[in-house]
Amino acid sequence: MVIGNKVIHFKRIESTNEYAKHNLNNLTDGDVVIADEQTKGKGRLGKDWYSPKSGLWFSLVLRSSDSQLAPLAIGLALCDALEGLGFKARIKWPNDIVINSKKVAGILIEVENHRLIVGIGMNTNILKFPEPLANEATSLYLESGNKFGKTQVLARILQAINQRYNLLVTNQIQELFNDWRRHSAILGQLVLVTLPRKKIEGSALDIDIQGALLIRTEDGSVQRVVAGDCQLIRVLY
Ligand code: BTN
Repeated sequence: MVIGNKVIHFKRIESTNEYAKHNLNNLTDGDVVIADEQTKGKGRLGKDWYSPKSGLWFSLVLRSSDSQLAPLAIGLALCDALEGLGFKARIKWPNDIVINSKKVAGILIEVENHRLIVGIGMNTNILKFPEPLANEATSLYLESGNKFGKTQVLARILQAINQRYNLLVTNQIQELFNDWRRHSAILGQLVLVTLPRKKIEGSALDIDIQGALLIRTEDGSVQRVVAGDCQLIRVLY
């Protein structure tokens, strides 16, 4: 599989993930679908994803070797790419990429016919976010005062995904976990995870082998969370 061997480019599209999903039969593993602008960008948990022209929005088709751990590998690859550009990026479980505690990139992985559609949204040159995003989102430009070429950022991300995904397919899971822990924005901190029917507050202990978050709550029990929205409440040390 050659990641990024074929890149399909759109000026404007509803969502690159939706395009990839509906055209999966014509796409080979490693193909990339990119759009200058998305009119119906999709985020996790059914949310919309703000996708103006000044960001990097693309989807990558991968074979599903391990869909549970793919978010880990992809999240780390985004940190690698950002570190290569001079940023200190961290992962807020499950796979929000943050710089100075604000979200700079998101990952939406969908499984279709045993293949993964990895949607990546990176806020590259966004100058201003609309409410209510303004408090929680940032861009490479807002963090550095510099504008970044999308092709350059895309190339770095694809190269980093290639390397991290190889760790996954060659079963070098421990390295992946250790690096993930080093890049985590929440381990050891007090977090609040919002689930469809309840909220769990406690200290983020670790992730397990399936990538689920383990939280120690006030009563001392350990709760396992597979998916949800996580907020950092307080830095404990
Ligand atoms: C998140 O909620 O954090 C995930 C955001 C994923 C956004 C990207 S942009 C490219 C791809 N196409 C979409 O519609 N969504 C993903």
